Amino acid sequence: MSTAQALQSPSYNEVVQGRRSVRNYDPTFKISKEEMTELLQEALRAPSSSNLQPWRFLVIDSQPLKEKLLPIANNQQQVVDASAVIAVLGDLESYKLAETIYNRAYEAGNMPEATKNDFIARITKIYPSLPADVARRIVYTDGGLISMQLMLSAKARGYDTVPMGGYDSAKFTEAFGIGERYVPIMLIAVGKAATEGHPSVRLTVDEVVRWNEFTL
Ligand SMILES: Cc1cc2nc3c(=O)[nH]c(=O)nc-3n(C[C@H](O)[C@H](O)[C@H](O)COP(=O)(O)O)c2cc1C
Repeated sequence: MSTAQALQSPSYNEVVQGRRSVRNYDPTFKISKEEMTELLQEALRAPSSSNLQPWRFLVIDSQPLKEKLLPIANNQQQVVDASAVIAVLGDLESYKLAETIYNRAYEAGNMPEATKNDFIARITKIYPSLPADVARRIVYTDGGLISMQLMLSAKARGYDTVPMGGYDSAKFTEAFGIGERYVPIMLIAVGKAATEGHPSVRLTVDEVVRWNEFTL
């Protein structure tokens, strides 16, 4: 983020309280590839299991491809009107990048060589043999975290989003040539709002939280 942008940045509170799911977008507004890249870059700071960062993204910003996605996503109009739809995918074989990640951490001076080697050895031993449901749970968890970070980064830049689970996952992977190694986690429409998202209510802290003993 440039200094000028940083000075104009909304507060954390404005971003969190101001984010709403927006379903009406200005179809003429396009987020530049450069800015979308910056937005994604910010989101990449999200935490992940063993820092394996199993998220992958397909940014769909071509109009014909958005039209192709429309019926797969239950004809939700935001798919075609938003600047882009970001498909958040989880890589079930993210451990294959363990060496890249941990060598980079070592080169950045974040850990001694022995620690780096230990991490790589443990990850490449444990992750490939995880039960399928555990491997999926990991990418869904990490994918949820990056999705939220992405939506907040978009809001901080004056854009709006809506996360979407309302799409046919099998048709999506087929239509967009997504290999079995990658699990679709959610679609996120991002763009310039044409109308504000409507307010939504939340359960109270008292309704969802228990201290020390879980009695719900
Ligand atoms: C995983 C997930 C899937 C969702 N799927 C859809 C969807 O397909 N279409 C839609 O319009 N909204 C979808 N939503 C948005 C929710 O309806 C919305 O987040 C919720 O009502 C709270 O409103 P808010 O986001 O404005 O705070 C989804 C949200 C999540 C987290």
